[in-house]
Amino acid sequence: MSETVLDVRDLEAGYEPGVPIVRGASITVGRGEIVVVLGPNGAGKSSFIKAIAGLVPISRGTVLLDGNDITAAPAHTMVRLGLAFVPQTENIFPLMSVEDNLKVACGILERREIPARIEEMYVAFPDLVRQRRTAAGNLSGGQRQMLAVARALIVHPKVLVLDEPSAGLSPKFVSMVFEMLAGIRKSSVTILLVEQNAKAALAIGDRAYVLVEGKDRHEGVASELWNDPMIAELYLGQRPLHVEKGGAA
Ligand SMILES: Nc1ncnc2c1ncn2[C@@H]1O[C@H](COP(=O)(O)OP(=O)(O)OP(=O)(O)O)[C@@H](O)[C@H]1O
Ligand SMILES: [Mg+2]
Repeated sequence: MSETVLDVRDLEAGYEPGVPIVRGASITVGRGEIVVVLGPNGAGKSSFIKAIAGLVPISRGTVLLDGNDITAAPAHTMVRLGLAFVPQTENIFPLMSVEDNLKVACGILERREIPARIEEMYVAFPDLVRQRRTAAGNLSGGQRQMLAVARALIVHPKVLVLDEPSAGLSPKFVSMVFEMLAGIRKSSVTILLVEQNAKAALAIGDRAYVLVEGKDRHEGVASELWNDPMIAELYLGQRPLHVEKGGAA
């Protein structure tokens, strides 16, 4: 495997003291990899990546980014440390133009590099350049997610962490989001992705973990996990993983 960028070890985290939601979860993400976290509803997937991003209190375990311990780092310092988190919702400023959304995301860049970096984002996301003066709230669902991802990528993060970028989108926009992620992949960005859409996520991912009750229960090569009927039956519920009906208790 490639050199490890993100190394999460035995993480325990939760919203109230003594009530862990994440219960000893460990994952690694190698440089340039797309790693997918799957799991049933309420498994703690969002809590897990929010804890990594400094948004949920951690009671045990460590988060290493390029070997640096960022376990106790506050959320607002994460971008500077190299971790960009895109939450599931409220990941853009709807009243600001697309361009202003990009500009305000450039906080840690040198002033003189900002215009060129914004242009690079427009090259990577051509839909956005056509809408540069549009209020972000008026974008389609798919374009909004593009903007959210562009805002995260603009500062050259070491790892991009995404919570369900395809959630709530119509099928057309779901495809758009996954095409975008497949495109980003070619530029060697390291991605940790939580997704309900197991099939599409495993199609673009390198490896995947299945999180159950706050713990990583399975790990595998993404393409192989997709064909693992036990995983399908146990953890992915009705998601169509080619499982024959009637096999499960
Ligand atoms: N802000 C919060 N305060 C308290 N408990 C929370 C909070 N957010 C989530 N939880 C609880 O944590 C548990 C795991 O939720 P989480 O959202 O992490 O799961 P998930 O795997 O992302 O689920 P989904 O597939 O529905 O997105 C749930 O029992 C949920 O009620
Ligand atoms: Mg979630």
